Order: sequence, then C-alpha cells, then structure tokens
Amino acid sequence: MSLPEGHPTVHEHWGRKCPVTGDSHDFCPPQEGDIRSVCPALNTMANHGYIARDGKNISAQDIVVGLKACYGLSNPLAYFLSYVGFIILRKFRRISLAEIGKHGAVEHDASLVHHDTPEGQEYAPIAIDPALVETFIADVRPTAKEVQGSTEDGVEFLMNAEDVGRSRVRREKECRPVDAIHAEIARGEMAIILGVWEKKTRTKAGIPVDWVQRWISEERLPEGWKPDHTENLLDVVKRAKSIKAAADMIRQEEAANVPPPKPV
Ligand code: HEM
Repeated sequence: MSLPEGHPTVHEHWGRKCPVTGDSHDFCPPQEGDIRSVCPALNTMANHGYIARDGKNISAQDIVVGLKACYGLSNPLAYFLSYVGFIILRKFRRISLAEIGKHGAVEHDASLVHHDTPEGQEYAPIAIDPALVETFIADVRPTAKEVQGSTEDGVEFLMNAEDVGRSRVRREKECRPVDAIHAEIARGEMAIILGVWEKKTRTKAGIPVDWVQRWISEERLPEGWKPDHTENLLDVVKRAKSIKAAADMIRQEEAANVPPPKPV
C-alpha cells in the first residue's frame, strides 16, 4: 500500500539503527513497534539515538553512556541515576523502556504531564496529556504574556526552581498523595534538567520554557543543542532543595491565606 503524498516515512528501527537519520543524533519519533517510557529524558535519548531507538534491550550501562553524551551528566550522576534506578526496579538484565514505568518503584503519582496509574494497573500510562503540559507552562512567573509585554531589555521566558515548586504543589493537590521518597524523586527529575539547561539573564536564571515544552511533550532536544558543561550530582541535590524550599513556602502562603472557618 502506498502512502498519501506528504505522509511522513514509516520505517523500522533496529536497536540504534534508523534508516532516515543514519548514524546521526537527529530526531526521529518512535515508529510502529518502538517502545517508550514515562520518562521524557529517556524517551528523548531514544528519539535522538543516544540509546536504542526502538527502546528495547537497554542495559543500565547503555543509559549511563547515553546520559553523559546526551545531557553532559558527570560520571557519578549518570551512574547513580541509572544503576540506582535499575536496583529500585529490581532489574538485573537488559530492559525495554516500558519496564521503567512500574508503578510505585521509581514511578509515582502526581506526575507533571502524565495521569496517575489507574487502580489495579502495574504500569503507569505513558500518554502525555497536552492540557497538563499547558498548565505546567502556565505555572511559570512572569507568565508568557507578561514577558511578551515587558519593555525591559533582555527579558526571556524562563522556568526556574520556584516555578517547578509551584507545579509540584499544584499536582500534589490534584492527584493521589505521594510519599516523601517519591516527592523527592519528582523534584529530582526536574532539578536535573534545570541544571543542564540553565541560563542567566539580568532578571531571572532558568531554562528556556520553549525548550522544556518541546522536551516534555515531543520528547525532542532543542535544535542543534549540545551540552556546554558537566552537570554534577551536588548541583542537582542543591536544585532539588531549592524546589522543595519554594514548594514549602507556597504551601505556607496558601495555608496563611485560607480564611478561618465561620463560627457555628
Ligand atoms: C537526565 C536524566 C533524567 C532526567 C532529566 C529525567 C527527568 C524526568 C522528568 C522531568 C520526569 C517527570 C515526567 C512527569 O512528571 O510527567 C521523569 C519521569 C521519570 N523518570 Fe526520568 N529523568 C532522567 C533519568 C531517568 C533515569 C536514568 C531513570 C531510570 C532508570 C528515570 C526514570 C523515570 C521514571 C520512572 C519516571 C516516571 C516518574 C513519574 O511517575 O512521573 N529517569 N524523568
């Protein structure tokens, strides 16, 4: 059967091989039969051929090599994320990306752009909800509109730890409760990318919101971007603490603004 004109080419991925991108790290979305996960970072690595493009037969060491090449993570950070992830998952063999989403292992409720795992299911849904992506972006201050309307020089639309804290508070109210360890994991996930992409302007330090939006919804790297520094474990720990401090502050402010119950 021939494809209609203009239809994107449909092809097969074998491990890291893609007939369209060849050996390059150009983006290619998952093709029929490819497997993806609940993690935007790992899916992006597969979509750019830093790990198997088909999302199958992936070892912890493949992920270490991919995390270093794709995001510029330091050796200790890459080893920590990958091997500790596999240990929590109790996987001592190669896995497919879908296996990473076992509910309650690393995976947790109150994700930023995914729905909670339905009751009784073993694996979390990998579908990204575009409405959740929109609200995640809408949590950023100053907002897109405020940035566009600004008369100040060099103002850019950036997301920082405080913005992520705002999203964490919102999702943890909207969803089923998460325990302290999974809340920490959730903060750590965003802390890594805040460190990998941070840029500073006169008014704010943060990561370009259009980069995050594309990464978390299309699972694609910014065009032509390559790591410009080594991102280390200590920096990620500090950023995760900043997200927690921001979230705690927002919760305190919200609690202070709740009007006292009316006397009966
Ligand atoms: C550069 C390294 C990484 C970054 C920046 C990163 C970032 C993220 C982000 C932002 C999410 C949240 C998606 C959402 O809330 O909807 C996520 C989810 C997840 N990641 Fe990663 N990740 C990285 C590496 C890894 C590794 C190495 C593993 C496991 C071996 C992993 C496993 C997961 C899992 C299981 C989830 C689902 C958590 C949930 O329920 O939301 N990630 N990751």
